[in-house]
Amino acid sequence: MNQVHYITELFEKYDGRNIDGYLKNGGFDSLKLLLSNGIEKTVGEISASGLQGRGGAAYPTGRKLKQAREAKGERKFVVCNADEGEPGTFKDRELLKRNIFQVIEGMIIAGICSDAKEGIIYVREEYKNLHDDIIKAINKCYEKKFLGVNLLNSGVDFDLKLFSGAGAYVCGEGFAMCESMEGKSGRPRSKPPYVKQEGFLNMPTLVINTETLSAIVSIIKKGADSFKRYGTEKSSGTKLVSISGRVNQPGVYEVPFGVTVRELVEHFGGGIKDNAKGNFVQIGGASGGILPEKLWDTKYTYENLESRGMSIGSGAIVVADETNDIVKYLKVVQEFFRHESCGKCTPCREGNRQMKVIFDKMIDKTVAEKDFYRLDVVLNIMKNASLCGSGKTEVDPFITAKMYFPEAFTIKEVRIEFPGNDEEEEAV
Ligand SMILES: Cc1cc2nc3c(=O)[nH]c(=O)nc-3n(C[C@H](O)[C@H](O)[C@H](O)COP(=O)(O)O)c2cc1C
Ligand code: SF4
Repeated sequence: MNQVHYITELFEKYDGRNIDGYLKNGGFDSLKLLLSNGIEKTVGEISASGLQGRGGAAYPTGRKLKQAREAKGERKFVVCNADEGEPGTFKDRELLKRNIFQVIEGMIIAGICSDAKEGIIYVREEYKNLHDDIIKAINKCYEKKFLGVNLLNSGVDFDLKLFSGAGAYVCGEGFAMCESMEGKSGRPRSKPPYVKQEGFLNMPTLVINTETLSAIVSIIKKGADSFKRYGTEKSSGTKLVSISGRVNQPGVYEVPFGVTVRELVEHFGGGIKDNAKGNFVQIGGASGGILPEKLWDTKYTYENLESRGMSIGSGAIVVADETNDIVKYLKVVQEFFRHESCGKCTPCREGNRQMKVIFDKMIDKTVAEKDFYRLDVVLNIMKNASLCGSGKTEVDPFITAKMYFPEAFTIKEVRIEFPGNDEEEEAV
């Protein structure tokens, strides 16, 4: 079984920073197709492909573009979400590094389809080594008239710039991102209104993931059917997956939906390091579910993972082997969220503090039954009452771990041996 090169088709074909190489390989053909076929037909093609947003929420992209076009405002913005703050996720970095022009072309297309004249690529602050190349690529596109006033003599204007992210996980969330671009501390706002209605500078804003933008370009060029040839009815096309952890070949792989998790670990990831036994994977980033090894034959699709209580999320797969203890692993995940909670809402801010106390006790083996009861209460409140997706989804690893590793959440009997006495006593 090989990787698919649908979105990543040009990775090996040219030096990703050279606009002439991009043009020689059909670069900007999709933009030209949009300009000749019109917006309705183009958005129809994207809808027909079944593409769902690759940033985590899996919202249908065709519908999103249509709604963005309908939104009213004096100014409109498109923001490429290249914040990529979800631990274990590094697939957008490959797209920015190896084919930035396809991302820029996707931005111009999204701008025209949503009637926005201003675009921003919001790049993770930690990717600052990529910033200069992205700015150079944007400038090249201005020189060649793919950006700016009356681009390609089409009568359409579109400007693009880079904004360096604020270095916080929550800034990948639409409103927090808008706040940070406005020079404020990156914290989510209450909804409604939604980002698409009142986002950056309170104007309609289309926030769209880097991989989604790259996929749009390939779909327009090759047609919706070519995309649907991969995957399943409900999980159309291909997905860029970031595989890391205890595997021999960590990296980014483009795979068709429908491969099994075992194939991702053993084939694409090259199997577990040191011939150890697999233990579990965390799917979709730090806020993703925990899938035990016995269920690795589950198909990697939205619908199959949903039936296991988890989601594709950002496309991260972190692999753990028999030497990785589930409680210690979860403790690291919990530390991350406690650090990253922006503190705006009580369920997430206080819930994380409560969880720290419980996990410390689990590690120290001083945890009591009432702590597990408290953990359930905290998880329930966070899931249902947090203000943004961070608090709502960060509980998923713990909920799924409780489902699949119940023994880690039960008080174990401690056997005490008395010297010189064959009989053993048990104490709790
Ligand atoms: C806490 C939090 C962090 C997020 N981080 C990212 C991110 O780094 N990249 C991303 O594309 N989407 C991220 N999202 C999802 C975005 O809010 C948004 O749904 C997505 O960028 C929309 O693009 P799409 O429709 O192409 O998926 C995050 C959401 C939350 C709640
Ligand atoms: S859920 Fe967490 S990150 Fe989101 S607003 Fe509340 S405190 Fe901030």
